[in-house]
Amino acid sequence: MATAPSATTSTSPAVYDCNPESASFPEQFAWGAATAAYQIEGGWDADGKGLNVWDTFTHQGGDRVFKNHTGVDYYDKVIDGLLANRVTPVVTLYHFDLPQHLEDQGGWRSGAIVETFDAYAQFCFRTFGDRVKLWLTINEPYVVAALGYEKGIMAPGVTEPGTGAYLAAHNMIKAHAAAWHSYDKLFREKQGGLVSIALNSDWAEPSDPNSPADQEAAKRHMAFCLDWFAAPIFLDGDYPAIMKSKISAVSKRQNCPSSRLPEFTSEERMMIKSTADFFSINYYTTRKIKHQDNTSCQPSFFSDQEAVQVMDPSWPVASGSSWLAVVPWGLRKLLKYIKDTYNHPVIYITENGFSQSDPAPLGDTQRWEYFRQTLQEILKAIYIDDVHLKGYFVWSLLDNFEWISGYSSRFGLFFVDFEDPALPRIPYKSATEYAKVIANNGLIKSD
Ligand code: BGC
Repeated sequence: MATAPSATTSTSPAVYDCNPESASFPEQFAWGAATAAYQIEGGWDADGKGLNVWDTFTHQGGDRVFKNHTGVDYYDKVIDGLLANRVTPVVTLYHFDLPQHLEDQGGWRSGAIVETFDAYAQFCFRTFGDRVKLWLTINEPYVVAALGYEKGIMAPGVTEPGTGAYLAAHNMIKAHAAAWHSYDKLFREKQGGLVSIALNSDWAEPSDPNSPADQEAAKRHMAFCLDWFAAPIFLDGDYPAIMKSKISAVSKRQNCPSSRLPEFTSEERMMIKSTADFFSINYYTTRKIKHQDNTSCQPSFFSDQEAVQVMDPSWPVASGSSWLAVVPWGLRKLLKYIKDTYNHPVIYITENGFSQSDPAPLGDTQRWEYFRQTLQEILKAIYIDDVHLKGYFVWSLLDNFEWISGYSSRFGLFFVDFEDPALPRIPYKSATEYAKVIANNGLIKSD
């Protein structure tokens, strides 16, 4: 099980004085910090934990919770410890660390995983659901599908251009829906919790705002990134029309026997629609999008979009991640897009962060400035755009294992000295400032 963004709630009046420098967040706004099991726990071979795809991918040679009582005891302690400290756990069932033996049977490309995932989800609901009331089934299915099964730059490292991502996504959507229904039928009445899926999306701006082709390309980028998952789950059980038509046309031109985008049956569409109790979004960055004709004979998820991404050179880039252009206003636009497209849902920002490269200064003044600007944009989203935002969780609580970037990309609110076996933790300035925001339930002028 991947953990547990921690969320504390705080109360203070919802007054907006039109000054994002000093406005309060709504009452009961949930503040948190997120982590993921594989990125912080270590112990890849501890206590009978089996290997997962990241253990294999990183050549370290780590079903954890499910088969293993030590795993259950461990997460019992984590959850109880959080609650004892008045922190509300929000639990993600799967954050990239698929057991290797499932991958060996096809992983997310195999339809059999739907039942397995549902059984695992039921186990977690049954075991921890007396104390956990906010659940996320899958973290960032886009990343798993596009980077894990298409590009192969994340575990499990599969490169099946033009088919792998679509198939993996198809099964993740069905697995999520199955788990949601299990919760709804078997646990909701007694436990009273909520279940969703953590989606990620960049915001897409047309590269040339006056070019209709770029405007359409930016819309397609949103469709292929966010709506790919959100449209079936939040709307009608099916993929966005623009994805279906594009992929079908390109597949035909490439002489594929049928569209490379799998289809849901009508029963599956009924099963998938409306299977989220709130909208969970992870936001990091924005891209400018340019139209680009796809004339290639090679199937590719990325070329199917006929849209290429460009980073605006004027945007600052986080020192620890070359992909992370820091664009706080992109988050406001993304939130508005979710509100308008998905019928004004309750939204939680379940990840947002900025990385520093090594050596990372404890006085991360510039990074805190980005957080501060982001919180200002969020206030505008809440009070000006009327977005129903209920929480914000920083990625991440601690410096951790940043997947293919290893330990060099530091996202933590707390610095971790990885050279010292005791792994001491020291707050960055951002941690201290964020604590003030939480205590105050808003920014204060001196921020
Ligand atoms: C993932 C995290 C990751 C973070 C920063 C998110 O896509 O959920 O696991 O560390 O981005 O790259």
